[in-house]
Amino acid sequence: MKKLILFISILLIISCSSKLYVPKSESSTVSVDDLKTGREIYVKKCSSCHQLFLPNQYNEKAWSLNLTEMQDRAKITDAEKQLIYQYIVNAPK
Ligand code: HEC
Repeated sequence: MKKLILFISILLIISCSSKLYVPKSESSTVSVDDLKTGREIYVKKCSSCHQLFLPNQYNEKAWSLNLTEMQDRAKITDAEKQLIYQYIVNAPK
């Protein structure tokens, strides 16, 4: 039973993160490498307690507040928080 739950959780995490866009080109202010790093940190640090929220679920101001709220929980540095923020707000609209 435990193994089944684990299996389903892993499937859920994979299926959620695959909906997240993969950066293919730089934005006007951020390099493509930084966007990719932001995605990696987001998937790695933010999926342990709940599903990953999609960028278009909140506007930029709300994301900034959400990230500040989650920073302690996810134990991320200011620089990591900034990378996640850049990844999120540069999502294709
Ligand atoms: C240690 C557990 C934990 C981690 C890690 C975590 N969160 Fe959360 N998150 C929560 C809980 C609990 C809630 C719901 C309660 C709340 O809003 O305080 C939540 C809610 C949210 C919400 C919804 C807020 C709202 O107002 O609807 C967003 C967005 C969010 N988290 C983003 C993130 C991001 C981004 C990260 C990574 C930087 C992250 N979370 C990491 C526990 C966590």
